Formats: sequence, C-alpha cells, structure tokens
Amino acid sequence: KEAHAAELERTFIAIKPDGVQRGLIAGIISRFERKGYKLVAIKLIVPSKEFAQKHYHDLKERPFFNGLCDFLSSGPVLAMVWEGEGVIKYGRKLIGATDPQKSEPGTIRGDLAVVVGRNIIHGSDGPETAKDEIALWFQPSELVSYTSNAEKWIY
Ligand code: PPS
Repeated sequence: KEAHAAELERTFIAIKPDGVQRGLIAGIISRFERKGYKLVAIKLIVPSKEFAQKHYHDLKERPFFNGLCDFLSSGPVLAMVWEGEGVIKYGRKLIGATDPQKSEPGTIRGDLAVVVGRNIIHGSDGPETAKDEIALWFQPSELVSYTSNAEKWIY
C-alpha cells in the first residue's frame, strides 16, 4: 500500500529505572507491539546525571528537576524508538497521564504505577521533542529500517 511508502512517524520511549527493576519491560513492550507499532531501536543503558540533565533540559527550572535527573540516572534505562502512524500521540495515550493518580486504568501508568516521581516510563510529547530525543539517545546507525509482514494487515 502507498501509505507504507511514506516516512513513518517515530517516537522515543524509555522505561525508567523503576520499571526496569520491577520487571515490567516485557509487559510494556508487549503493549506497543500488540497495538501494531514497530520497534526500530532498543538498548539498555545507565545514563549519567549529565545525560539525564540533557534529556530533561526543558525542565531545568522546575523544583523536581534535580530529583528527576538523579532518578533517571540511578540505574538501567531501556531506551527505545517506536515507529508507526500516530505513534507520538498514541504512545502517550498508551502510557497514560503523567501523574499515575490521574492516569486511567488500562494505561501503562494507570495499571502499573502510583506516584509521579516513579512513573516507570517516558514518551516524547511531540514531533520536535521526538526528533531531539531520538538524536540524543541513538546514533542514526542504531535505528533499524525493516519491513514487517504484519504491516500488510495494520494501517
Ligand atoms: S510539566 O512541565 O509540568 O507539564 O511537566 P510534565 O510534562 O507533566 O512532566 C515532565 C516530566 O517531569 C516529570 N514530573 C515529575 N517528576 C518528579 N516529581 C514531580 N512532581 C514531577 N512532575 C512531573 C514527569 O514525569 C515528566 O517526565 P517524563 O519522563 O516525561 O515522564
């Protein structure tokens, strides 16, 4: 189908140290896979505090900035790039509201998290951020382009 010839949208998704430590990786990946999105990059890394500060640079005036950067750099993070139509916005929908007390049941945070400071997952909030975050976390050569057969059935 022609629709698949166009460049597909990509977003940056990271399972934060609490999600990794709690053994939630497979369950979270499964939600994106089952929806029909395609994994194009993945790696497990422990970001430095400096790297975390770069990732959250937009938030440096916020009172929780330092704690948030300490948290992100406190252990392994599963960094991923997911691809598919509407994946930036819909990925955020799968994740649920920032504060797990407000995220709906059925969403990742709604089902699996309790407090905002330990909300297990991050997703880019728009096309510009997605572009910047993918470039920060991944080399272009780490993004894998491939055709998956399932795309014949998912639009
Ligand atoms: S904003 O600017 O308030 O709208 O920020 P928001 O998009 O809601 O959240 C931006 C990231 O900051 C995290 N966050 C917090 N961390 C710790 N404590 C508090 N109180 C807090 N509030 C927001 C929030 O989880 C977002 O990080 P990511 O990694 O994107 O989830």
